[in-house]
Amino acid sequence: MNHLIAPSILAADFANLQRDIEMINNSDADWVHVDIMDGMFVPNISFGFPVVAATKRHATKPLDVHLMIVDPDRYLKAFKDAGANGITVHYEACPHLHRTVQAIKELGCRAGVALNPHTPVALLEDIIADLDMVLIMSVNPGFGGQKFIANTYKKLNDLKALSEKKNPGLFIEVDGGVDQNNVKELLQAGANVLVAGSSVFSSAIPADAIYNLKHP
Ligand code: DX5
Ligand code: ZN
Repeated sequence: MNHLIAPSILAADFANLQRDIEMINNSDADWVHVDIMDGMFVPNISFGFPVVAATKRHATKPLDVHLMIVDPDRYLKAFKDAGANGITVHYEACPHLHRTVQAIKELGCRAGVALNPHTPVALLEDIIADLDMVLIMSVNPGFGGQKFIANTYKKLNDLKALSEKKNPGLFIEVDGGVDQNNVKELLQAGANVLVAGSSVFSSAIPADAIYNLKHP
């Protein structure tokens, strides 16, 4: 499958969010990545429902909502109502992951599970067939603009092998420190959805940065 690009609005200018979303609409991007941080699961707070709903009003592309929050079950429906097309929860935040994944699917959303850098891919063996997507964190979640962790390549290889056995249509998303320098290697290691925040929005021409990730 052709790989997808999901620019993260965490790195957008929140005072010009409509402008930045329109840039994404008019670019080669496929999804809009929306990072939700609660100050509990991660040490940072990003934004909540009103910003997601406002993003939805302007975005012409699906919202890929990444929940870095404790007890995400409490808020799945609220994120769906705010406009999420896909919802990704963290493995580390979900003691009843199978139930959470079913709840996401019952809402009609694409269901994703994210793994922190220290969480092995092998832990997904008994849930992977139920998932639409796995998100491999290539930084510790909580902040944009961090340095890419090289062990990510090994984890993408592991995930690709597991998905070939148990779920060949899986979206394999990588999130954190993705830029023009590692895009080819990430795709080769098995990623098929690339999230990029700073490398897009700190670029002089963000739409060109998106184009370059889409056509490496
Ligand atoms: C990090 C978030 C990422 C973040 C990526 O916790 O999950 O989606 O926006 O930002 P960059 O691309 O700047 O590493
Ligand atoms: Zn994210």
